[in-house]
Amino acid sequence: MNIVLFGPPGAGKGTQAKELINKFNIPQISTGDILREAIANETKLGLEAKKYMDAGNLVPDEVVVGLVDERLKKDDCKNGYILDGFPRTVAQAEFLDKITNIDKVIALDVPASEIVERITGRRTSKKTGKIYHIKYNPPVDEKEEDLIQRDDDTEVAVIKRLENYEKQTLPVLEFYKKQNKTVLVNGTRKPEEITKELIEILGK
Ligand code: AP5
Ligand code: ZN
Repeated sequence: MNIVLFGPPGAGKGTQAKELINKFNIPQISTGDILREAIANETKLGLEAKKYMDAGNLVPDEVVVGLVDERLKKDDCKNGYILDGFPRTVAQAEFLDKITNIDKVIALDVPASEIVERITGRRTSKKTGKIYHIKYNPPVDEKEEDLIQRDDDTEVAVIKRLENYEKQTLPVLEFYKKQNKTVLVNGTRKPEEITKELIEILGK
């Protein structure tokens, strides 16, 4: 089962993907995570990508497409995968159609008005990679988790990310609607309610 988890910044793609990979035993492929790892390792690609990411802009298609192409060839993708944050432009979606077959596109629907609060309150555990929110999903023991905040989770960058989402990424939804692959899911409920619905949709 090859799934695209689609949605604006802060929609809950990462939060939901982490639940679904356990349930369906397939990997999460987050282009954002791959790029952040490259930044942490201070590779040439990472240093180049960081400029775009911190400003809230998309990394050029040719860079991201190359990363995904390489990742999908790995053994653990044989039984399927969950793409989180890819494709984000129509050119990326067209590329994906050339190398694989996407079964379903789950679009998490969250209004822009909720997104800034979600993103500025997000914290990630350096130890486990688990995603928290200072208000909606705080960790039991903050010190134990060693929480960090993403460099692009500032209010200024989030506004730019939202703008770019509307301009460059929303057309991808139209692309998949034409293929009848899209399921729109209300992303404003409790995370566990959303997970339940996603499992029902994907279990069919
Ligand atoms: P990426 O890492 O993909 O960021 P994003 O798309 O902006 O999405 P986020 O990770 O911010 O949000 P999410 O939907 O995963 O939400 P989460 O579950 O964390 O990309 C970062 C950058 O990399 C891009 O800006 C770009 O520069 C570059 N990039 C990546 N892919 C690219 C591509 N394909 N092409 C070009 N450039 C690319 O949740 C957010 C917060 O909300 C958390 O605090 C969480 O606890 C909370 N939350 C989650 N669900 C709920 C809920 N139901 N109710 C209340 N709070 C909730
Ligand atoms: Zn994410």
